[in-house]
Amino acid sequence: MKKYKRHLITSALPYANGPIHIGHLAGVYVPSDIYTRYLRLKGEDVISICGSDEHGVPITLKARKEGITPQEVVDRYHYLNKKAFEDFGIAFDIYSRTSNKVHYETASAFFRKLYDKGEFTEKMSSQYYDEEASCFLADRYITGTCPFCGNENAYGDQCEKCGTSLSATDLKNPKSTISGSAPVLKETLHWYLPLDKYEPWLRKWILDDHTEWKSNVYGQCKSWLDQGLQPRAVSRDLDWGVPVPVEGAGGKVLYVWFDAPIGYISATRELTPDWEKYWKDEETRMIHFIGKDNIVFHCIIFPSMLRAEGSYILPENVPANEFLNLEGDKISTSRNWAVWLHEYLEDFPGKQDSLRYALCASAPETKDNDFTWKEFQAHNNNELVAILGNFVNRTLVLTNKYYDGIVPSYGSLNESDTATLESIKSLKEAVESNIDSFRFRQALSEAMNLARLGNKYLADTEPWKVIKEDPERVKTIMYISLQITANLAILLEPFLPFSMDKLRKWICINDLRWEAAGRAELLAPGHHIGSGELMFTKIEDDEVERQIQKLLETKRANMAESAPVTPQKEDVSFEDFSRMDIRTATITEAEKVPKTTKLMKLKVDTGIDTRTIVSGIAEHFTAEELPGKKVSVIVNLAPRSIKGIESRGMILLAEDATGKLVFVMPEKEIKNGSPVR
Ligand code: MF3
Ligand code: ZN
Repeated sequence: MKKYKRHLITSALPYANGPIHIGHLAGVYVPSDIYTRYLRLKGEDVISICGSDEHGVPITLKARKEGITPQEVVDRYHYLNKKAFEDFGIAFDIYSRTSNKVHYETASAFFRKLYDKGEFTEKMSSQYYDEEASCFLADRYITGTCPFCGNENAYGDQCEKCGTSLSATDLKNPKSTISGSAPVLKETLHWYLPLDKYEPWLRKWILDDHTEWKSNVYGQCKSWLDQGLQPRAVSRDLDWGVPVPVEGAGGKVLYVWFDAPIGYISATRELTPDWEKYWKDEETRMIHFIGKDNIVFHCIIFPSMLRAEGSYILPENVPANEFLNLEGDKISTSRNWAVWLHEYLEDFPGKQDSLRYALCASAPETKDNDFTWKEFQAHNNNELVAILGNFVNRTLVLTNKYYDGIVPSYGSLNESDTATLESIKSLKEAVESNIDSFRFRQALSEAMNLARLGNKYLADTEPWKVIKEDPERVKTIMYISLQITANLAILLEPFLPFSMDKLRKWICINDLRWEAAGRAELLAPGHHIGSGELMFTKIEDDEVERQIQKLLETKRANMAESAPVTPQKEDVSFEDFSRMDIRTATITEAEKVPKTTKLMKLKVDTGIDTRTIVSGIAEHFTAEELPGKKVSVIVNLAPRSIKGIESRGMILLAEDATGKLVFVMPEKEIKNGSPVR
């Protein structure tokens, strides 16, 4: 590999219109954090850049829907997401935002330079215009029927059902999402980046010179290039974004995908006055961490922009990941199908590393992957607790017990001792070469192999038995176990920063250099270590069960939401209706009918009397939560015998399309026995 002087690590700027979820973390931010921490351990000059992407139509749509300003939307999520990253130890040097002043200046100057150099083409085109709202309708302000799959809710830029990228004029029956009216076509002027012009250069730069890129990234670039590139509009008719810095361009802003990647530059400027050395010196190595939906923007469009500008370096690699699914379904913010970081921390306080570990161990590096709570639990309990935590704990406990926490000196080494020490070295090399080639799953698994090795070494040598007849031998065993422990503290730091921070304190080492790892004298004889505590704790079945239930509840709510309303029944006469006597009532007692799953025996105060009613609600409510509930009751329903119990009447509840029952309560306190009609 070419020797570089410094590294510029960027992580995709998340849109500030929703919270961060595990998919973001697994695909982009855990990998970029591991990589950054690794380079720092190696003593490299490295900066890690991120921030909020605060422009684009979805943000303005959300603001409109909630009746607040776009700035209020992005303020809310910028701070929430910034904190979520901090809470998970994602160690950016800066978490900036694209609504700030530096960014406006940087992005306009960038555009202006290309404009002045004549790098854009200008073109009039017909775009949809909403005559009621008097504005042009960019991208998602238009919905209509997808010409490919018939989805009636396709957007002006993409159909989310079949994934096709569209332009608004492709849609059948287009509709404005602002007024709901049918839009008209109107002429408007826009600036285009002629990507076709960069095609030959891109082909060489990517397809010939970057054959080492991950195959998913390389493959996607190749397919874009083989389809032929078209000029791409870099402005929009919109009032939220960086204004187009050209006279007479009122009401037009830079397209969000033009300004957002420039956000990496603005954030670096905000971070350091020395920013140019990171962006304009060939000896800087720039790496973009992104998800697969960002590949074309980071590998084709942004590099073309940088090349057109002329003074910036290009990315050396773009290790994009595929997507993480959740319990078999695509993660979706709008369907609330996600595990949000801030909610995870409420349910599993202090367990950041457990999630980081599980997400890295099943990261979607080469194909989409699935996150399940059961696997999460297994990663934590069977690997972190049973392997890593167990080894470290035994080593620390025995050292304290036998030597009062002082590292013993070693005697002569037998074959298995030497082989174990050799393995420390080869495992370190394996971790290193895997991180170097962005294979973080494999790197983590190699680092964990060192803990496995430690456990096996203890199990084979059995110091707790040998201590009686050969205490000298035990000194060697514990010396070696301690060296493995210290190596773990370094090799696992990029992956499990919270736990390794604790471990370093317990074993009192300050020399935290990657270089030091692989060797067998990290803890010298005579060095004092502390006592340590448990590094990880088990996650119990009921904790994951609760998470699974929460997701089932979401799924149920989504199904009910999208199900059609049942058609109306046949008419009944007014006379028929008035024969029914419905009253307000209160449930006073409830008890499950034995040997049934559905039936609940209720005592109900109807105002007329207190009577027994048997109701099929036992799968929905527990006997404890029912007493005190207000209900409406058909009191003159002919008595029926159910399971040998006489039921007199029927309570009325609302039922959604999935069968979920909900109480329909009187709005105000009302006397039992009041008629409902
Ligand atoms: N906001 C985009 C997304 O979440 C990513 C922008 S990356 C940047 O998909 F380079 F444009 F900043
Ligand atoms: Zn479609």
